[in-house]
Amino acid sequence: MIRFDVITIFPEIFRGFVSESLLARGQKKKIIKIALHNLRDWTTDKHKTVDDKPYGGGPGMLLKIEPLYRAVQSLSSKFKVQSSKLRRRIILFSPRGKKFIQADAKRLAKYSQLILICGRYEGVDERVAGYVADEVISIGDYVLNGGEVAAMAVIESVSRMVPMFIAKKESAEKFDHPQYTRPEVFEVKSKKSKEKILWKVPKVLLSGDHKKIKEWREKYG
Ligand code: ADE
Repeated sequence: MIRFDVITIFPEIFRGFVSESLLARGQKKKIIKIALHNLRDWTTDKHKTVDDKPYGGGPGMLLKIEPLYRAVQSLSSKFKVQSSKLRRRIILFSPRGKKFIQADAKRLAKYSQLILICGRYEGVDERVAGYVADEVISIGDYVLNGGEVAAMAVIESVSRMVPMFIAKKESAEKFDHPQYTRPEVFEVKSKKSKEKILWKVPKVLLSGDHKKIKEWREKYG
């Protein structure tokens, strides 16, 4: 069982995501657990302030360290993981982080608790990356409004690497060759010439020749 604790100021973004399809089934079967936490619950002022102006000036606001620190402390102490420290990983999402790849999904699936900190606005006080998080992850060289979409990508890809999450183990990492299903021939009309065009499944896949199919998959994978 792996536990994801998501810290965000927009927990609602995740509601549909966590309650559909394989993630819903994985939670029902107690293979994964996804808990959503509103960062504002760890503020102490009347206005539930989570952000402030950057020192030295500049546009925009930064997420403050205090509520994030308190959130991580509280979620770390509330859920005791096995004695070894390696069983919990605290992750901050930022476009300045290390690029996330499939090998990271496999690596992170071995933890029993991932605490996922979603950055927002124009950034997060750098002390969160420096002292609170164990690692900073980017899902690609583009800037999102915040870490929520990145957290979803990590939750989904890590979950797929957890034993029993995917019924057929072979399909967990399947992105290795093109695939087709019925019909064998699909007919469309050309927009320009109005001629009939046939989109066909490669013949070799219909041949029943397993050796040839394997070679084709290796060639085009
Ligand atoms: N927050 C904003 N952009 C991001 C990205 N590309 N990856 C992770 N977190 C982000």
